Amino acid sequence: MSNNTATAIQSIEWREDHVRILDQTYLPGREVYSDIRDVGRMWEAIKKLRVRGAPAIGIAAAYGFYLGIKELPENSFQSFFIEVERVAEYLETARPTAVNLHWALDRLKTTIQAHKDKDIAEIKDIVLKTAKTIHDEDKRTCKKIGEEGVKLVGKKSKILTHCNTGSLATGQYGTALSVIFHAHEEGKDIHVWVDETRPLLQGSRLTAWELKNAEIPMKLITDSTAGSLIRRGDVDMALVGADRVAANGDVANKIGTYPLAVLAHENDIPFYVAVPLSTIDMELDNGDDIPIEEREDDEITQFNGSEVAPKKTETYNPAFDVTPHKYVTGFITEKGLVEPPFNENFEKLFE
Ligand code: MRU
Repeated sequence: MSNNTATAIQSIEWREDHVRILDQTYLPGREVYSDIRDVGRMWEAIKKLRVRGAPAIGIAAAYGFYLGIKELPENSFQSFFIEVERVAEYLETARPTAVNLHWALDRLKTTIQAHKDKDIAEIKDIVLKTAKTIHDEDKRTCKKIGEEGVKLVGKKSKILTHCNTGSLATGQYGTALSVIFHAHEEGKDIHVWVDETRPLLQGSRLTAWELKNAEIPMKLITDSTAGSLIRRGDVDMALVGADRVAANGDVANKIGTYPLAVLAHENDIPFYVAVPLSTIDMELDNGDDIPIEEREDDEITQFNGSEVAPKKTETYNPAFDVTPHKYVTGFITEKGLVEPPFNENFEKLFE
């Protein structure tokens, strides 16, 4: 796939001694880049969705972890590792649902343990190298997801997507959007329906921006429009990403994904979830145990800074929902399509 300007977006970049992120809270109005030089700023950037999307959160956390450990004293491994655990625990509190955050930190801690006989200064260099590897691997993985997923897209296809799963949400290309970018690049006649994705509008602010940059035909819809489009036969497939997939195939993704999956099922439309293996959590048997992040009232009591609900209105604002695996047609991964029974087929994938 050619590296056109749309897919070449780097939402995260390591620059010599700090991280530069494209602050997604300003999009689509302004392209603002912020330099992050300490773990506290990285925690804030993840929490406030300046950097967001499961794989991107994992990458950002990996660099944030390095920023958090790089100044630690280098006299004893034992006390160094106690602090390392503290930094990882702190970063984990930024956002609970995307397993990629936990996965990346776990990988870095395991790497540190594997090198515990080395000088701590050297271990720190290895941590930075591993964070860069996680970042590079994600770019390759997402490209592969696009190459695998494009096989499922018809020559002429209307695709419905939710939230943002593009280059902004990953190292590059994206997950569900990688499939869309690849289908367009292959000359398939695709049209994308973009759910605006209440309340933070990742669909209208970010996905529409990425698809416009790539000149991919699309229309923005309100979340509640999806049902009538599907019923009248205007959607050939639903394609989304995920923040965490349990071992049985239950999917946690942006709030509003579950109703889409039910609608797709009811209307005999395939519902595909595009994920890197790092999003599959084999430690959780099913989706009931996936921690679901609840966010602040003002995300729904305000719109663009104006109050849209009476003062002190109480809210329930979960950022994600869980789609039972029975509604998922298949998972598009870097190792190919995974079909039911998911439990068994995931096991094979991780062998
Ligand atoms: O709250 P967000 O914007 O981080 O939520 C992101 C999503 O729900 C995406 O669909 C998911 O992380 C997959 S990103 C490739």
